Amino acid sequence: MTNNKGPDPRMDMARIPRHVAIIMDGNGRWAKRTGQPRSKGHEAGARNVREITEACRELGVKALSLFAFSTENWRRSKREVDSLFNLMTKSIKRYSDQIHKTNVRLLHMGLSDGLPAEVAGDIQKCVELTRNNTAMDVCIALNYGGRRELTDAARKIARQVQQGELRPEDITEETLAAHLYLPGHSEVDLLIRTSGENRISNFMLWQISYAEIVVTPTLWPDFNRDRLHETLVEYQSRNRRFGGRP
Ligand code: IPE
Ligand code: IPE
Ligand code: MG
Repeated sequence: MTNNKGPDPRMDMARIPRHVAIIMDGNGRWAKRTGQPRSKGHEAGARNVREITEACRELGVKALSLFAFSTENWRRSKREVDSLFNLMTKSIKRYSDQIHKTNVRLLHMGLSDGLPAEVAGDIQKCVELTRNNTAMDVCIALNYGGRRELTDAARKIARQVQQGELRPEDITEETLAAHLYLPGHSEVDLLIRTSGENRISNFMLWQISYAEIVVTPTLWPDFNRDRLHETLVEYQSRNRRFGGRP
């Protein structure tokens, strides 16, 4: 749903966060509330991805990272996992052209191994199609876990040390950042979690170290433009000190 009211007048367009990350939670509860199967909640959630991506692009957000499937979500029933991946291939097929037309670059963050071949292939195609786009990066975290990302980085660095290409004393924070899944992806400014859960659930552990966190009770399928604008107003009211003194 689009609203024609325009951005919240309290919002300062000169202080839009560069990188927004969202833990899109609450699809199941949204479905339950309306007496529908969980898959209907995921469908409504997938539709909302488009709405919020578009809203962020219009506001000038430069990077949007969306948590779509965690390495822990494999613990769900096969039926739910299958329906989630079906939905993902459908959505990517349906929206690839639109993503490209709006000059958005799609990125994937997570393990391709373990993903159904069709999902991995469709994502790869869209990543290739949009690779030179410049309006905004949309990073889909799919089969992603923050601990696994850091573990994989440690392994890559250890191999370089083993091969004599790097000395342990030369390993810095920059070295680690350069070995994450998407080395060029900036740190997160604003982390939003929908559905009122006050936890990180293994999302972008390195990149959120100084992110402002906003937890909203709104369930993901109901998190519309107005809610996004409210969240940005809240972000702009924060005093980001980064450990220093104002
Ligand atoms: C988020 O909604 C989507 C995924 C984690 C894939 P949930 O499915 O976690 O919804 P709730 O938390 O059960 O309401
Ligand atoms: C986090 O939501 C993962 C995604 C949104 C993809 P979960 O619903 O899996 O998180 P927990 O289990 O409540 O921590
Ligand atoms: Mg959940």
